[in-house]
Amino acid sequence: MAILVTGGAGFIGSHTCVELLNAKEEIVVVDNYDNSLPEALDRVRQITGRDFRQYQCDIRDREGLCRIFQDNDIDTVIHFAGLKAVGESCEVPLKYYDNNMIGTIILLEVMKDFGVKRMVFSSSATVYGDNIVPYVETLSTGNVTNPYGRTKYFIECILKDIYGADHNWSIALLRYFNPIGAHESGLIGENPNGIPSNLMPYVAQVAVGKLKELVVFGDDYSTADGTGVRDYIHVTDLAIGHVKAVDYVRNHRCLEAINLGSGRGYSVLEVIHAFEKVCGKKIHYRVGPRRPGDLPIIYADAKKAERLLGFKTTRDLDKMCKDTWNWQSKNPNGYEQEKK
Ligand code: NAD
Ligand code: WQD
Repeated sequence: MAILVTGGAGFIGSHTCVELLNAKEEIVVVDNYDNSLPEALDRVRQITGRDFRQYQCDIRDREGLCRIFQDNDIDTVIHFAGLKAVGESCEVPLKYYDNNMIGTIILLEVMKDFGVKRMVFSSSATVYGDNIVPYVETLSTGNVTNPYGRTKYFIECILKDIYGADHNWSIALLRYFNPIGAHESGLIGENPNGIPSNLMPYVAQVAVGKLKELVVFGDDYSTADGTGVRDYIHVTDLAIGHVKAVDYVRNHRCLEAINLGSGRGYSVLEVIHAFEKVCGKKIHYRVGPRRPGDLPIIYADAKKAERLLGFKTTRDLDKMCKDTWNWQSKNPNGYEQEKK
């Protein structure tokens, strides 16, 4: 039995492949490398000493997907494949609806044709929109402010309908908070295209000298130091959460939304100072205006993941910064330097 990992060459996908292989699972990866490089998968092999099949295929390519299901004994799908840039999704919403929604629908149809009814889906805390903290799974969802977030919300709705119509499905909707960090080997990590829009990769590129200074988006929020607070989760913890979620959907017939976060928040300034400590350099920053759409404080209620999956994060902010710095300093240009 194998787990199909869509988007397995990406940031979270590659780290999850490592943890699945470490847990002795068989995996098959499908990715179109739209936002990643096959090099990441070679490094997954290097870290784990294990091999697996990988296919370059767009999940909207029904025939291609069918061949993958024909050639492999797949029992569960972890579905990471999707576009994730919030800003870009506002500029070209159709691209996001096409890739994320149509891609998921085709994947689900092929799964149904092959009798594969277990899925672990990459959802996001973004589905909670502007809500009361801590975000608990029973809160209302759908009050989302951008097309990217709406694709996550709509896909959650589709998956709920599928389960409602056929209780033989088993689905985990994993709502990630802010994944950061890198594998502790420094061989895989986040490899953003162009100038990063997220905080941690931006800080790391300032530290390594690729970017001049960070702009802190507002210091007048009603938080302890005035800067935005988020629930950061180490990508290896997140990956381990997926291994546990696969076990869960294999052993239950269910549809469960589950937060993957640490349950505590850190401010932008706390992140900057923690990073300065581990890299031994000053992170140059200036305070600018708030970024439109940003909320002051987001953090998870992480109790359901502990109750259902036995999952709890173990890597703290220090470790997240340390591993990010290790990856960034060893690979200042990400995987690009490996391109022949
Ligand atoms: P990523 O861009 O690094 O990985 C996504 C992977 O999917 C990439 O390798 C990309 O090439 C591939 N892909 C995209 N569209 C595809 C398609 N049509 N067919 C085949 N492959 C395709 O992103 P990530 O940070 O690893 O995120 C993984 C998933 O988790 C995404 O669905 C994202 O929306 C979700 N998520 C991410 C975050 C975050 O902050 N990183 C937070 C919440 C949810
Ligand atoms: C974190 C904090 C910023 C950059 C995004 C998506 C969300 C999810 C995770 C996918 C905020 C501040 C940032 C900078 C800054 N992705 N910041 N200067 O916005 O919490 O979440 O990624 O599902 O949907 O929206 O993450 O890393 O962009 O920001 O001051 O240059 O850092 O204002 O307080 P965010 P982020």
